[in-house]
Amino acid sequence: MAGKIKVGIVGLGRLGRQHAENIASRIPNCELTAICSVVESEINEFQEKWGIPYSYANYDEMLTNKELDAIFIASPSGYHCEQIIKALHAGFHVFSEKPLGLYLEEVEEVKKAVEAHSDKVFMVGFMRRYDRSYAAAKQKIDNGDIGEPILIRCYGLDPASQMDNFLKFAKANYSGGLFLDMSIHDFDLARWYMGSEAQEVWAIGGGYARSEFDELQDAETGAAMVRFANNAMGIFVAGRNSAHGYHIETEIIGTKGSIRIGTVPERNQVVIFNETGAVKECFDGFIERFEQAYLSEVEEFINCILEERKPTVTVQDGVESTKLGYACKKSFETRQLIHVQT
Ligand code: NAI
Repeated sequence: MAGKIKVGIVGLGRLGRQHAENIASRIPNCELTAICSVVESEINEFQEKWGIPYSYANYDEMLTNKELDAIFIASPSGYHCEQIIKALHAGFHVFSEKPLGLYLEEVEEVKKAVEAHSDKVFMVGFMRRYDRSYAAAKQKIDNGDIGEPILIRCYGLDPASQMDNFLKFAKANYSGGLFLDMSIHDFDLARWYMGSEAQEVWAIGGGYARSEFDELQDAETGAAMVRFANNAMGIFVAGRNSAHGYHIETEIIGTKGSIRIGTVPERNQVVIFNETGAVKECFDGFIERFEQAYLSEVEEFINCILEERKPTVTVQDGVESTKLGYACKKSFETRQLIHVQT
């Protein structure tokens, strides 16, 4: 395919605006041709800043624009499946933010649609695979540097400073609950690193700092223990009450060693010495921590379209991680050990 890939994006919120800016200004072989949002001020801001040719308040209308080559989905999670299927049927390459979907039936429908449009590039936004540290860890595991991986331990903690915003959002919207919304990246990494699918899960949690989470039947902090088909183990901690900032940490223990990524979520090399001791500031959110990965994953999506090849992260990765997330949710709600649907 010659020339620049013309992209239309739906969703210009916390993450959508980062994707939109990357597409509009940081990737030379694509252009941001259309934007879609239900928030008028977001549309106006982007039009003013980047002079985008087309804007829409209605997603279906954007899909009638035949100048576009690809659709980028950064809308709330409940819309992903429907919007992916519509965009594929309309003949576009599609990138969708995580999670692929919130229910097992709908992700299977997406898989069918992706398979039915095998000439199109489809990619799900598991950007951690494109983060330099996570990619380096994968290479070391594949090299056999830690022997056989037998246990993965993941922390995915959002800053406590964002808890009020989240609660406001969660009271008006359904995003799948703690495990499907937050641990989904960890589930994808676990499958990637351990080379096996989850079989059994036991998940617990609660609203320890804020009882509103109990009213929402969700957990503010939760933990899941997983057994994989190859008998490897997974321990996943997710939470929305991290006092020190955005903390994403992963450990993979193997038969001959272990690897840790992000043990201290330090913002930079600066250490402040004051009356509280030696202080290292931490990341304040996902954009700051994964800025490079968000750019690299979009570059890969665009290059796949131009080079007529497929990304290594597949719709099946989206389906399997959703199955694991859904099993955790079910275990948390029923207090039972759950077998992950195969
Ligand atoms: P947000 O609530 O900040 O923004 C949502 C955007 O979608 C807004 O621009 C809104 O106008 C638009 N929108 C909502 N309904 C729409 C509709 N019917 N038609 C067109 N536009 C519509 O959401 P946020 O936090 O940016 O999350 C978006 C997605 O990205 C979610 O699925 C979330 O799970 C995912 N996400 C992924 C992250 C990652 O690390 N990969 C990090 C944060 C979010």
